[in-house]
Amino acid sequence: SPARAAPPREQIPPGIRALADYERLAADLMPPASWTYLQDGTGDGLTVAQNRIAFDRIGLLPRILPDLRNATTQLDLFGQRHAAPILLAPVAYQRIAHPDGELATIRAATAMGCGMILSTLASVTLEETAAARAAAAPGLGAPPAALWFQLYMQEGRADTLTLVRRAEAAGYEAVVLTVDASIKRTAFALPPGVEAVNLRGIARPAHTSQVLGPILFGTPLAQTTPRWEDLSWLRGETRLPLLVKGVMAPDDARLAIEHGADGLIVSNHGGRVLDGMPAAIDCLAAIAAIVGERMPILVDGGIRRGTDVVKALALGATAVLLGRPQVHALAVAGVAGVAHALLMLRSELELAMAQLGCTTLADITPDRLTPLR
Ligand code: FNR
Repeated sequence: SPARAAPPREQIPPGIRALADYERLAADLMPPASWTYLQDGTGDGLTVAQNRIAFDRIGLLPRILPDLRNATTQLDLFGQRHAAPILLAPVAYQRIAHPDGELATIRAATAMGCGMILSTLASVTLEETAAARAAAAPGLGAPPAALWFQLYMQEGRADTLTLVRRAEAAGYEAVVLTVDASIKRTAFALPPGVEAVNLRGIARPAHTSQVLGPILFGTPLAQTTPRWEDLSWLRGETRLPLLVKGVMAPDDARLAIEHGADGLIVSNHGGRVLDGMPAAIDCLAAIAAIVGERMPILVDGGIRRGTDVVKALALGATAVLLGRPQVHALAVAGVAGVAHALLMLRSELELAMAQLGCTTLADITPDRLTPLR
């Protein structure tokens, strides 16, 4: 008989002071294959490393004696309030870390008033996740948590549209189209009982059966990967705000806007797709210069501290996404862990803002940055 799953862990262990502490503990708790899948970058891990190194090179210049009486981390995005400029990135298959998977994550996000982006490859259905949000009690003073749907285009437009219509019907408030991972090698065999349940009923679901052979060009797969015209098509099919995730080049930012994006997510997919990409944070300023005030720009990859959040905002981000750390906290302490991780990050952000003399997110400007030697 299959090994019994360990009972879910719900207690925040003593001594957790930072997101890195959850990472350390999760390394011992998660099965090795799942841990490797979660943590690893592609290739030699150059880009995963860059995502951290780049933040560590950016210094912060404090401003003294600010008036903090009306200070706030609140953010309004697409007409919705967020407690802080921190959202949970779409991360697939969260039941590898906790039996409740994404249901635990949305409960934590709701408690903290933080937004969550549910992956197409979630291990619970998008409808159950929306229902869990509706049933969860928002934390004291927390705004209702935003819930966005991350879309991977499927081979058939009808299948893609089915996902979009389901997300609309379930009350998702935005669609995040991920465009940087259409071609990707993954060797991870999902543990029993964990699957991409939202893709049930799709004959050849993209991103699950797409095991690349040695040859790509000229194969059926190369005939069906998403193209710019598919973005225009999607734009015409939904009234929800549409964000494009995986923009790194300024020219692609321009094209994404031309093709109807309402927001951009600067991301190298946590270093999991093309090794040798620069840190996402290092690509942000050039994209922000093109976008200006036209639309929100989000960024992810290597955000681990409240000081990373202020660095991102100073370089032009509207908000940041948190990837792997949500899964670390989920594995260690379930709902409580993820809520605690979000609280720690927000708390660090408040402290950094106070020390930088920033009372609102708009005060976090480039003059707060200085290179470290
Ligand atoms: C991801 N990411 C991701 N992105 C996406 O658009 N759809 C997805 O299904 C997934 N799945 C996924 C699984 C795992 C295990 C990881 C680690 C990442 C990428 C994710 O949204 C985000 O861009 C990065 O994780 C951000 O980097 P950090 O915070 O993990 O450093």
